[in-house]
Amino acid sequence: MSSTVFNADKAHIEADWWRAAVIYEVYVRSFSDANGDGTGDLAGVRSRLPYLRDLGIDALWFSPWYLSPMADGGYDVADYRAIDPAFGTLEEAEGLIAEAAAVGIRTIVDIVPNHISDQHAWFRAALAASAESPERERFWFRPGRGIGGIEPPNGWISHFGGPAWSRTRDPDGRPGDWYLHLFAPGQPDLNWEHPEVRTGFEEILRFWFDRGAAGVRIDSAALLVKDPELPDVGEGRSPESHPFIDRDELHDIYRGWRVVADSYADPRVLVGEIWLDDHERMTRYLRPDELHSAFNFDFLVCPWDPKHLRASIDATIEAHLPVGAPPTWVLSNHDVTRPVTRYGRADTSFSFQAKRHGVPTDLELGTRRARAAALLAMALPGSFYLYQGEELGLPEVETIPLDRIQDPMHFRTGGVDPGRDGCRVPLPWKGSEPPYGFSPDVVETWLPQPKDWSRLSVAAQETDPGSMLALYQSALSLRRRYLSRLPSPLEWMASPSDVLSFRRGAFACVANLSLEPFPLPAHKELLITSAEAIDGNLPPQATAWLHLSESTTDQPEWEIAAGTFSHTTEGVIGG
Ligand code: NOJ
Repeated sequence: MSSTVFNADKAHIEADWWRAAVIYEVYVRSFSDANGDGTGDLAGVRSRLPYLRDLGIDALWFSPWYLSPMADGGYDVADYRAIDPAFGTLEEAEGLIAEAAAVGIRTIVDIVPNHISDQHAWFRAALAASAESPERERFWFRPGRGIGGIEPPNGWISHFGGPAWSRTRDPDGRPGDWYLHLFAPGQPDLNWEHPEVRTGFEEILRFWFDRGAAGVRIDSAALLVKDPELPDVGEGRSPESHPFIDRDELHDIYRGWRVVADSYADPRVLVGEIWLDDHERMTRYLRPDELHSAFNFDFLVCPWDPKHLRASIDATIEAHLPVGAPPTWVLSNHDVTRPVTRYGRADTSFSFQAKRHGVPTDLELGTRRARAAALLAMALPGSFYLYQGEELGLPEVETIPLDRIQDPMHFRTGGVDPGRDGCRVPLPWKGSEPPYGFSPDVVETWLPQPKDWSRLSVAAQETDPGSMLALYQSALSLRRRYLSRLPSPLEWMASPSDVLSFRRGAFACVANLSLEPFPLPAHKELLITSAEAIDGNLPPQATAWLHLSESTTDQPEWEIAAGTFSHTTEGVIGG
């Protein structure tokens, strides 16, 4: 291949880095605590950059690090241009972005556009102003229903439980209008029909892009626009006419954001958090002039079942093809039950309505399946997202004492929902007891860590070739070297119905979800397995990656790919 072609392709690949990237979610509060106050911080993340580099990721997505009263773990932003003092300073954030770039890791920041904090200057001004004032037009203030306006303006329910409305007090102390909050009362929803809301967020995007952020993760991306009539949700409503989910006007907002992202010499990336069941509706956000990619929650919530998984993979790939966007593969994040716990239960699916907290789980089986799921997900065409601690196989912590729970989801449901703290417990780095090196000294961490996490610590796993960490490191390294430029979409190979087997060129992935060992197809090399293959048989609940023996070209595709597009940490981040 001539060097001209090589260079042109390389430039193209680097511009499109997000198409096959591995993106690691850092939940800052729980990643690493450098100042010893029991809460993770940016200095802690900076000190762990070598760990992240060695893990083999392409980008970090930081959960919100902005100034926040933490009514919802930082998803209640009081100032989008300031770092919360618990985490550090703006200078530290800039330093972190630059230092990460220097080791080949891009930074994605979390933008929360549906709502802000009730401590944000806009909302404080709105509360201080009168009922019909312009300050209130940036939000959804309405008089209540019934005598004296004692009932909320409509019957919308908050995602955290209870009414999606809270009542204000007028300056004279009398009950006033209500305001809308689809999440906690400390997160008033913005009115996206207001021009200042729109321009304000485009400026926030530029603020972070100018500081080197390679992209943004867009929180609750399908909720921003409301039907101005605020009708009740009602039975039998078609998904297209929902008063606050997936409204058509959203697309215009994201077209505006895309213009901002594309205005940079090294275009920035927009990643949507879009929980929609309908694949076609979801991928409409990924048309070429809108977002670049979106989390594939369909795959995340899928039970560990071959029929469902295959259907989810097929539907995902099929829906992404017409818009030319890469699929994403996600097994966990800071909102959902940890995979090793989920996959160890009788029902292995996930839903917010049925978290099965405390239901018996077989962690050994769950871990075995989580290992297999990781190799399956990493082998699929597109990008792969992982959430801190997933690479350590941390289980959901279901023993957090009631008086230590922080998540508003728990309180707003009157304790019915366990909340999401169980997947947010600070990471164990080393040592035999809490705080396992998370904090430099023995302090009480913001959420308590279990007493039996020593064997799950990074230090313990780094020296164990059979650990989850070793599996992630090896698989991510292979993925980077060989897989990320392979042909897509994939081709299913003939196999029994409880074995998922597909190829991408000379690469094949076989996931055995059956109860019996499965003889691996003829191959030139066994690249990696999630559980040891014995005499060429892949054990149950395990995945293998193979270099197939037959190849249609003189040189297997992945060797061409590896030779041409080998990863480089130099010059991948532009200004
Ligand atoms: C989605 C975030 O992932 C979640 O943690 C948060 O509570 C809601 N959006 C509201 O911002």
